[in-house]
Amino acid sequence: MDDALVERIRSDMEYEFARTAPPEGFPAFHDIPTARHTTEEFHRIEAEHLWPRTWVIAGRAEQIPDPGDFFTFDDLGVPLLVVRGTDGEVNCFYNTCQHRGAPVVRGTTGSSRRLRCQYHSWTYEIDGGTLVSVPDERDFVGLDLTERCLPRARCDTYAGFVFVNRDLDAPDLSDWIGPAREMLDPFDGGALREVYRESRVIPCNWKVTAEAFLEVYHFRHIHSHDGVSVLDNRGAAMGLYPNGHSRMITPYSKQNVDRSGMGSWDDWEHLDTAPMPAIGGVPAMVDCTSTAVSLFPNVIIPLGRIGFPINVFWPIDAGTTRLDWIYYAPPPDGADRFDPDDLPDHWRTRRAAYDQIMAEDEMNMGPMQSSMESPALTGMPINYQERRIWHLHEQIDRIIGVENIPAEMRVEQLLEPYVER
Ligand code: FES
Repeated sequence: MDDALVERIRSDMEYEFARTAPPEGFPAFHDIPTARHTTEEFHRIEAEHLWPRTWVIAGRAEQIPDPGDFFTFDDLGVPLLVVRGTDGEVNCFYNTCQHRGAPVVRGTTGSSRRLRCQYHSWTYEIDGGTLVSVPDERDFVGLDLTERCLPRARCDTYAGFVFVNRDLDAPDLSDWIGPAREMLDPFDGGALREVYRESRVIPCNWKVTAEAFLEVYHFRHIHSHDGVSVLDNRGAAMGLYPNGHSRMITPYSKQNVDRSGMGSWDDWEHLDTAPMPAIGGVPAMVDCTSTAVSLFPNVIIPLGRIGFPINVFWPIDAGTTRLDWIYYAPPPDGADRFDPDDLPDHWRTRRAAYDQIMAEDEMNMGPMQSSMESPALTGMPINYQERRIWHLHEQIDRIIGVENIPAEMRVEQLLEPYVER
């Protein structure tokens, strides 16, 4: 997020405030079929073709600082374990013993230089998952240990997050994130630590939750207090990155500019973060706007110079989602972690404010799902301001493969000319 990007965002905001229509030539979207959000069929297609082929955040590198440290990860619908190898690299294997399928590790976290199945003690090493020991091996006829390694998944780290991908042929993580890195690189993510986390089960499709954070068209309508919205959606500047990622920077409203003591919506030097430390190298713009980046498919990050939460959406079934939000920030002076049960006052205040916004968003989601499942709504018209939603859906279809989606459930591929390379 260098000076050139900040200036481009300022210019984009000026354009957005001034325009009277979408840009010349911007495509007209057809309705997004609600069947993508409501049907068992589309949920099954996503389970078969989307989630096994995409990078997702499984945890944090600091959870496994030393060789042999591991944690399990089940949110992709299959049992995985992530373990720090003897060489310091992070590896991911299926937590499925190649004897008769017992979990190789039973706890959700632990540390062991060998992965020994609890059932009959088949034992695997932690770098390649090689099977190295089988009790009573003489009783197996023709057993070839080299053919019984733990199956692998792809695994890599970025900004302190451990990403996994079940697709062994997936692009490298750095290529996958691509230019969206410009939004997260300045935050020194590896040095941040978890402040607190919340989790909710919401009666709606996972895309209903994701879409709520991909536009600010709704913001002043459900997040105003005493008639004041802190943001002005008319100036929202968006960028579409390859692979379905995107950014959105929204200026403060006039009322909030005045209340904050700023001179104008783009007075991006005024605010400070005290008493919380600001992360060095992050432009002040981030504190004087709503600045967010989305990582396809299920992560939205509203950025701040004090740190940021990640909002993560996990499908449970076609109409149920687990929404997690986990706040990360530089740890307090002299400590290497936060105590979520003993946060300082300024963090308790920040937590209450963020949780309030999440509650306001959550309020709509279940009722929206009920409406989508009724015959009253078969498709959703999407406007220019909501184009990040279309970008998400286009990428979903590209990952799944349009040939695997019934024609009436597809979205047209329209936004390629607007993707930043
Ligand atoms: Fe793991 Fe038998 S199932 S050793």
